Amino acid sequence: MIVIGFESSCDETGVALVSTEHGLLAHALHSQIAMHEAYGGVVPELASRDHIRRVLPLTREVLATAGIGMDQIDAVAYTAGPGLAGALLVGASVAQSFAWARGLPAIPIHHLEGHLLSPLLATPQPAFPFVALLVSGGHTQLMRVDGVGSYELLGETLDDAAGEAFDKTAKLMGLGYPGGPALSRLAEQGDAAAFELPRPMLHSRDLDFSFSGLKTAVLTRLRSLEKASGGLSEQQRADLAAATEAAIVDVLGAKALKAMRQTGLKRLVVAGGVGANRHLRAQLLGAMKSMGGQVFFAPLELCTDNGAMIAYAGAMRIKAGLADLHDSSHAFTVRP
Ligand code: KG4
Ligand code: ZN
Repeated sequence: MIVIGFESSCDETGVALVSTEHGLLAHALHSQIAMHEAYGGVVPELASRDHIRRVLPLTREVLATAGIGMDQIDAVAYTAGPGLAGALLVGASVAQSFAWARGLPAIPIHHLEGHLLSPLLATPQPAFPFVALLVSGGHTQLMRVDGVGSYELLGETLDDAAGEAFDKTAKLMGLGYPGGPALSRLAEQGDAAAFELPRPMLHSRDLDFSFSGLKTAVLTRLRSLEKASGGLSEQQRADLAAATEAAIVDVLGAKALKAMRQTGLKRLVVAGGVGANRHLRAQLLGAMKSMGGQVFFAPLELCTDNGAMIAYAGAMRIKAGLADLHDSSHAFTVRP
């Protein structure tokens, strides 16, 4: 079966085609980063309007790339939530219209399930069961995954998500949006040991996270340096970025390891935008090597939001018998 997938939960419009037999056939993406940059973050109204502009040209593009006609598509998958309500409605409406016009099933996909399964788009593919570290702009979760649709939440953030911690500290330091990649680039020139920052809940017994204190600690550092010397030197900025990144990565790494020990599982899967972070990747590779485990990442370009992960989740649900192919009335549920 061939599934077309639509993603429009935030600031990326993504459309993709996935075959249940042959995997990813084509995907096309438009990022709104340049449009929102001037505002220092995503403007929901602008996001919705841009999704409308982009979604049909991207659909044409994936069909042309894969050499597939509309009549060859068997099912439609779309992001039902969570996300920005207006943005989600664009993808949901297009997907529903497409499905209705062609008499196809429409499969609503939870955005996080899309992220969670995206490492299966890489080779080698992780086998079930595994522990998943889901680190996006809106969520930070550890999950035990026994199969498609079989997810047990082991722990999650009590306040800010890891991506949010990157974004908010980057904003405090006057770096661009999205902050994660910008802060990470600056951190490459810095020395993480130059500043001591807290590692919230590093030693707590549970698998939960808390990142909001880190943001406050960075702000306090910035203020005291400004008071003492009227501002930060370039090197101090890089050092502070490196220290912030190290604090976030240390906590993520330690909790992921704790989850592996608690579940006894040997496979770790990392998904979501922060999964693109080089420092996090290196730290987890090292940690897994030393404990005799394996770590799997989503392909770099599929860490942040995209249509491929949504089409793929739809295809996986069909394969697992978890998609209702006859009644898509439930598909009207949009979960912001
Ligand atoms: O998964 P995603 O595209 O969107 C959500 O579903 O939230 O994740 C976006 C998040 C942003 O917070 C962004 O700053 C972060 O992922 N991010 C990174 C990197 N690339 C993206 N954070 C750290 N290092 C990166 N290289
Ligand atoms: Zn996402």
